[in-house]
This record gives sequence, C-alpha cells and structure tokens, in this order.
Amino acid sequence: MTNLTFDFTGRTVVVTGAGRGVGKAIGENFRAAGATVYLVDFDADAVELAAKEIGAVGLAADVAQTAEVEAVVERVISDTGRLDVLVNNAGILRDAMLWKISDDDYEAVMAVHAGGTFRFTRAAVPHFRRQGGGRVINVTSFTGLHGNPGQSNYAMAKAGIIGFTKTAAKELARFGVTVNAISPNAQTRMIESIPADKLAQLTEQIPMQRFAAPSEMAAAVAFLASDEAAYITGVVLPVDGGISI
Ligand SMILES: NC(=O)c1ccc[n+]([C@@H]2O[C@H](COP(=O)([O-])OP(=O)(O)OC[C@H]3O[C@@H](n4cnc5c(N)ncnc54)[C@H](O)[C@@H]3O)[C@@H](O)[C@H]2O)c1
Repeated sequence: MTNLTFDFTGRTVVVTGAGRGVGKAIGENFRAAGATVYLVDFDADAVELAAKEIGAVGLAADVAQTAEVEAVVERVISDTGRLDVLVNNAGILRDAMLWKISDDDYEAVMAVHAGGTFRFTRAAVPHFRRQGGGRVINVTSFTGLHGNPGQSNYAMAKAGIIGFTKTAAKELARFGVTVNAISPNAQTRMIESIPADKLAQLTEQIPMQRFAAPSEMAAAVAFLASDEAAYITGVVLPVDGGISI
C-alpha cells in the first residue's frame, strides 16, 4: 500500500533495516514518490526480495560495521552522485530484565540502534555538505521516551538516538541538513514477537486501539524528508496512535 506522497523525483534515498517491516514500507513509499531508493539490511535474502518487489536497489550490509556502512554510501554516491535522504531504521530486540541481560545482548542492541545511526549519519555528512543539504530521519521508540520493563538495553539505545538527533540537528543546520526522528507503533514482525496476552494489553493502551500499518510510518517520514519540512529539525514525532500522550 502506498500513501499520498511528496515528489522525490531525482532524489536518492537510503533506508536501513529495509528488508521488511517499517523500513520496507518507507522505501516503497519513496519509490512511489519517484526517488531512487536503496534498501539496506543484513538479511541478504530479505533485502533482495524486498528490493525486487518495490523496484529499489537492495544492498546487504550490517549497520554496526563502519566499513560496511561506508561501502554502502560509496556505492550510492558512485551510482547516483548524491544522497538526499537517510532513514536510520535498522533494529533488533534482545529483551530481558536488566539483571538477565548479557554483555553481548547489551552491546548488540547498542551497536545496531545507536551505533548504526551514528555510523550512517557520519558517513553521509560529507555528501550533504557538498550538496548543500540533506535529510536524516532516525527511528526511536516509546521505550526510549518513557521506558519499558524488559528493554533497558533498547531504551538506552533509543534514548541515545534522541540525544543524537538533537545534537546532529544543531551541528548540521548550517549545512541545510535537518535531522528528525519518528517514534513508531506499527504492526510488524517486531510486534508479532510479543506474547498474545501482552499484545492485547498493549493494544488496549493505545487511544486509537490498534497498531498502525507500516505504511502509516512511511507517510510521516516522507513529510519530514520533504522540502516543505525544511524548517523542522531536532524533533521526535510520535506516530503512535496516541500511546505517548
Ligand atoms: N514496530 C513497532 O511498533 C516499533 C515500535 C517502536 C520502534 N520501532 C523501531 O522501528 C524500526 C523498524 O522496526 P520493525 O518493527 O520494522 O522491525 P523488523 O524486525 O520487522 O525490521 C527490522 C529490520 O532491521 C534489520 N536489521 C537488524 N539489524 C540490522 C543490522 N545490524 N544491519 C542491517 N539491518 C539490520 C532486520 O534484518 C530487519 O529486516 C526499528 O528501529 C524498531 O526498533 C518499531
């Protein structure tokens, strides 16, 4: 499903964690709006399939690895000469109560969410500066804003993304770059992994009484990436049916 979109003809968009779920829907929406779209995911099969389905380019890369991130940006620049929109969406969960989380599960979550967002944005900055502008949209979470038992590693990473978003917004404004974040609440594999009784309880707490379709996240991202949103920077936009009110 696609949304009413802005026109991104001639723009190059990179979406991470785009083999499925929210990232794939974001990529699909940008394609429908005329952009050249690169989907990045460490699941090579998923990203190839998703790219074929929506007419994008699929690249297998791990956002937690600097060399792989830089290779993606180099490839995008060598293909299209530009990078207009970067969506840092890749994510994993390693949920457990704080006292049960291993070093590995702490480090992995930090490396993908916070580390991936940092690495990709850093690699994009020289190109944004050369072009005189750009858009970064990061993906945070209700957990990063308000906390959630069983997700202390994820909360730390997602809260880190909020601090990063605000700092990068201040640093990059002088180059015509905006940096914003969304806080989603969408029906994806990540949500499907929640036990049914907990999911029913969670749905009850959403004023809209439902999780969104991933395409509803894509609409918010397209707005933040548009020329029309040029004066909006450093914000966290909850796209969450009111759960964070
Ligand atoms: N679905 C929700 O309601 C919800 C709520 C809050 C936040 N989020 C955030 O939205 C983003 C997308 O979540 P989703 O629900 O679509 O999840 P998902 O699990 O369906 O998709 C995440 C994708 O990221 C990829 N990925 C994971 N680690 C990677 C890495 N190191 N390098 C490259 N790709 C990697 C996965 O392979 C997967 O395809 C995540 O950052 C998540 O934390 C989602």
